[in-house]
Amino acid sequence: MEVTGMAHREKSQRGEIIAVCSAKGGVGRTVLTVNLAIALRKKNIQISVVDGDFQFGDIGLALDIQSTLSIKDIVEEADSLDQYSLVNFLNKHESGIKVLSAPDRPEYADLINEPIIDKVLDLLALEHDYVLADTGVGLQEKNLPFIEKADQILLVTTLEMATLKNTKLMLETLETLGLEDKVQIVINRSTMTSVINAGDVSGILGIESPYYIPNDFNVASQSLNIGIPFVINQGKTDISKAYFKMAEQLTSRREIMVFKQKEPSIWSKLFQQSKRIKEGG
Ligand SMILES: Nc1ncnc2c1ncn2[C@@H]1O[C@H](COP(=O)(O)OP(=O)(O)O)[C@@H](O)[C@H]1O
Ligand SMILES: [Mg+2]
Repeated sequence: MEVTGMAHREKSQRGEIIAVCSAKGGVGRTVLTVNLAIALRKKNIQISVVDGDFQFGDIGLALDIQSTLSIKDIVEEADSLDQYSLVNFLNKHESGIKVLSAPDRPEYADLINEPIIDKVLDLLALEHDYVLADTGVGLQEKNLPFIEKADQILLVTTLEMATLKNTKLMLETLETLGLEDKVQIVINRSTMTSVINAGDVSGILGIESPYYIPNDFNVASQSLNIGIPFVINQGKTDISKAYFKMAEQLTSRREIMVFKQKEPSIWSKLFQQSKRIKEGG
């Protein structure tokens, strides 16, 4: 199905940036990013993916991308970069999504700075209906430009106690930063056996209407290992259906924010917050 209006997006309209975040590693951010991206692409709209896990990014693996072309290659050209030259750094996946990979070695992560991330996201949003960014764990410095720029933050959790505890802490911090309206919780592996039921998570985290993705370790891990997202070749499974439903919900509640107010940077807010705590105020 084609989403009316979006495929004919006017150039003046900016696509939506979605940051895929989590308070803990290994909860399924990368699996979510690639499968949601392709589920959205099946609506015949323009999708790009940025691997923002700059040290240990797995998007290339999850999509079986062989090229070593990455955001690191942009660093030297950052000043002259525009939406036309940016295309040369994107890996084209057979599904039609465009991928900006993470550097192939963790030591290169430090070369990527906030102005580059900002510029890349802005340029991608000019040309794509959705820009999905996989991110590193938690609120580390390199994640903040993604969190700040995002129109929506998908905060992925599982039902494990430690993950839920840290998800709650991260959610509270995002609330303190005034970003709660952008946050949507995704309960991944929601059908796994746990002392906590998926239905209790809303109450625990104090949120409404999370997304639920069922547990299917065989399908998820095999898909990661062979580099083919399951929404491509296992579309009939419950886990794929959950992603198609999520894509449907995201596009149906979409509002493109063309004019965004410039707000103080997230760093200065965090800084002011820790200063207040230190001063006991
Ligand atoms: N819905 C799911 N059901 C079962 N296993 C899952 C699910 N989603 C992800 N996984 C598994 O969880 C592990 C971590 O996923 P990954 O996307 O690499 O996490 P992250 O990017 O957050 O570190 C992988 O082995 C993956 O196969
Ligand atoms: Mg990952």
